[in-house]
Amino acid sequence: MGEKLLLQVEDLHTYFYTLQGVIKAIDGVNLCVREGEILGLVGESGCGKSVTALSILGLVPSPPGRVEGGRILFEGEDLLAKTPAEMRSIRGSRIAMIFQEPMSSLNPVFRIGDQMIEVIKLHKKVSTGSARIQALEMLHEVRMPDPEAVLAKYPFQLSGGMLQRVMIAIALSCEPSLLLADEPTTALDVTVQAQILNLMKDLIRKRNAAVLLITHALGVVAQTCDAVSVMYAGTVVESGSVESIFRSPAHPYTRGLMECIPDPSRKSDKLKIIPGTVPDPVNPPPGCRFHPRCYKATATCSQIRPDPVRVGPGHVVCCHYPEEG
Ligand SMILES: Nc1ncnc2c1ncn2[C@@H]1O[C@H](COP(=O)(O)OP(=O)(O)OP(=O)(O)O)[C@@H](O)[C@H]1O
Ligand SMILES: [Mg+2]
Repeated sequence: MGEKLLLQVEDLHTYFYTLQGVIKAIDGVNLCVREGEILGLVGESGCGKSVTALSILGLVPSPPGRVEGGRILFEGEDLLAKTPAEMRSIRGSRIAMIFQEPMSSLNPVFRIGDQMIEVIKLHKKVSTGSARIQALEMLHEVRMPDPEAVLAKYPFQLSGGMLQRVMIAIALSCEPSLLLADEPTTALDVTVQAQILNLMKDLIRKRNAAVLLITHALGVVAQTCDAVSVMYAGTVVESGSVESIFRSPAHPYTRGLMECIPDPSRKSDKLKIIPGTVPDPVNPPPGCRFHPRCYKATATCSQIRPDPVRVGPGHVVCCHYPEEG
C-alpha cells in the first residue's frame, strides 16, 4: 500500500433544497483514501454515506441537491472544477462504481455480454471482438461459472451474487484507480456476501487500486478494510486504521456502534442500542451533532463543534472528551 493520497475530500458540503427546508446531508466532511487502500465509510442510515459517494462522482441529483463547498481532489485534480463531460469520462474509467442494487445499473432488456462489451468498447476504444475476449477474461477472473453462457444471458436469469460478480467485472474492466462501492453486498445472504467481499479484495489488491467501501456493518469493515471513517449526521467523527479504531475507538459514537455488534460470548441476550435517534438533517443540533445521544456530553458539547484531534498515528477524532485506551 502506498502512502500517496489518491482521493482527498476536504470540508465538503452538499445540501438538498426541499419544501421542508434545507437538508444539510453533508456538512463538513473530510476523507482521504491512499493509493491501494480499502477505506470503509460507516454510519447509520441517513448519515450521508451515499451522498458523499454521489458528490465525488458528480452525480448529486440537481435540483434539489447541490455541492455547496469544499474540495474533492482526485489524483491531484479538483473534481468540483470539472465539466459534466469531463466527469462522464472520469466515471467508469479512472473511478468506477458498484451500487447495492445491480439491477439499477444493468439494463434488463440487453444481454450481459452486450452490456459488458459496450462498456469496454466505450472506455478502451477496441473492436467488438477484442472487447468480447476481455469480457470473457473478466468473468473468468470474478470466478463466474461458464462465462460463455453468462454472456448470452439476460440480467433476470442470474442470481443476486452472480449479478454482483458481473458488476465487479464491469467496474474493473476499465482498470480504475478508485472503486466506489456503495453497500455492494447488503442484498446478498451472508455466505455469498463474504465470498464477494473476498473476491473484490483480491482483485483490487492485484491491481493496486483503491476502494471507498460504504457499509453500515462494522463486521464488513473488519473483514475487508485497511482504514475506516465513521460518519454521523453529515460529518466524519472519527477516522484511522481498522486496527487502531477497533482496538481503541475514541468517539463515544464509534464505541456505541461497536457495542451494537452482536457478540455470542456475551451473557446477556439483550442487544445493545445507542439511545435516541439520528438528528433531523434540516435542524441539526448545534455543537457536536452527537451530543443529545452522548452519555458524556457537557455544555461545551452543545455549543462548540469539536475540531479533529489526533489520538494515535493516523487516528483522528472529533470529540471534546475522547475515550482513552
Ligand atoms: N434526492 C434527495 N433529495 C432530498 N434529500 C435527500 C436526497 N438524497 C439524499 N437525501 C438526504 O440526505 C441525507 C443523507 O442521505 P444518504 O442517502 O447519503 O444516507 P446513507 O448514509 O447513504 O443512508 P443508508 O445507509 O440508508 O443508505 C438524508 O437525510 C437523506 O434524506
Ligand atoms: Mg446509502
